[in-house]
Amino acid sequence: MTTLIQNIKELLQVRETPIAKVAGSEMKTLPTIKNAYLLVKDGLIADFGSMAEVLNIQANQIIDATGRVVLPSWCDSHTHLVYAGNREGEFVDRINGLSYEEIANRGGGILNSAQKLNETSEEDLYEQSKIRLEEVLSLGTGAIEIKSGYGLTLEGELKMLRVIKKLAQNYPVTIKATFLGAHAVPAHFKSNKAGYIKEITTVMLPQIAKEKLADYVDVFCEEGYFSVEETAEILQAGIHHGLQPKIHVNQFHAIGGIKVAVEHQALSVDHLEIMTPEDISMLQNSDIMPVALPTCSFYLGIAYTPARQILEAGLPLALASDFNPGSTPSGNMNFVVATACIKMKMTPEEAINAATINAAYAMGLSATHGSITKGKVANLILTKPINSYYQLPYAFGSNLIESVLINGEKISF
Ligand code: NIG
Ligand code: FE
Repeated sequence: MTTLIQNIKELLQVRETPIAKVAGSEMKTLPTIKNAYLLVKDGLIADFGSMAEVLNIQANQIIDATGRVVLPSWCDSHTHLVYAGNREGEFVDRINGLSYEEIANRGGGILNSAQKLNETSEEDLYEQSKIRLEEVLSLGTGAIEIKSGYGLTLEGELKMLRVIKKLAQNYPVTIKATFLGAHAVPAHFKSNKAGYIKEITTVMLPQIAKEKLADYVDVFCEEGYFSVEETAEILQAGIHHGLQPKIHVNQFHAIGGIKVAVEHQALSVDHLEIMTPEDISMLQNSDIMPVALPTCSFYLGIAYTPARQILEAGLPLALASDFNPGSTPSGNMNFVVATACIKMKMTPEEAINAATINAAYAMGLSATHGSITKGKVANLILTKPINSYYQLPYAFGSNLIESVLINGEKISF
């Protein structure tokens, strides 16, 4: 089966030779072909180039993209989209003056979601989660990572990871699963954090590894959650069970989590709203992908990740949604890209690089996703007719996506 997409106004993120990631000032460049074609064969990108060269190409199906921009699908390397119920009540509490931290201290926050999740059946959890997955796929996400972390019991964490596995089996996108048992200390271990960590390392991790339910291990390394030492212990146990770390660090305080991430060869460090000069130099000596979650900052009203400082230090940066019920109830990567431009002063080129090729790296998919490269999967966004790709972040409240192709097939739900 071959599909020819022709008369593309701008074909973005064209990389003739595969690259793993882009960093620093390279992120200002987004290789683009104007008036382009793209040939898809059996779900993969087979060829592309200028329309002037298209003459002899035969295809089963032709899509005319006159006036439209085509780009690789967004990769969303950090989500918590499997959750039960929602937390609109806390949303209103925050409007009325309570902070995210105060809500958590009153037993709300992650523990509120954990209680709801443990009261929800696996079937119901799947039904609730698939609605969110379908929504983000329609908004152009073509590969996604999903975390556990609202179970905080063996049964709850397994339930979440099984739902993630079932989503991966039933939908055509690549889904990576991350075990985040260390998201918070559950109520039943309130005065015994060491006991909960032991439960994670000696009960949960072995079972999850045995059932091959996770690709990565995550910890919320933060004051009031898990310390640097506790993070190190959990990461070591995760690595022992074959899971590479991807961790939540420096969201509210810089407590040294980045050093632990470097020491444990994490794939990514995520959040980074608060960064010290030492954190930046630690990352300069590593292969770790820093990941910013600007719509979390937007929603909570907290600092934005200092993108300019990170890029000026020559580091790469990826963008992800953090889709979750408490700090980011949205998985719209278009809005993530717009927020990065508007609030973090990333140029459209930097933001698109961050949400495609670098985001693919942050979930171990840069060999197959994140750019227009021969042999990569044909996961593509086709826009409505627009003036240029600048319009994607500029018109931040509009849905400019006309269609989405996953493995070369148009999707609709
Ligand atoms: O990435 N910071 C920790 N975890 C999530 C929020 C979880 C929640 O509030 O439910 C985050 O922002
Ligand atoms: Fe998160």
